[in-house]
Amino acid sequence: MEKDDIICSCMEITKGEVENAIIDKKLTTIEQVQDETEAGTVCGACVEDIHLLLEEIQVK
Ligand code: FES
Repeated sequence: MEKDDIICSCMEITKGEVENAIIDKKLTTIEQVQDETEAGTVCGACVEDIHLLLEEIQVK
């Protein structure tokens, strides 16, 4: 998945936007990502992807 790819198609939010929010605001939970970006707040289909992203970034 590239930075410009849409991670949440409901809100048209890219992977990069979620990534930046996680890094800048030191987000650790899905709820925080939802509050900050609105990604994952509509159908929930992208929540799993956001989860993976959270894990990926915390590992780094
Ligand atoms: S794809 Fe993210 S809430 Fe629907």
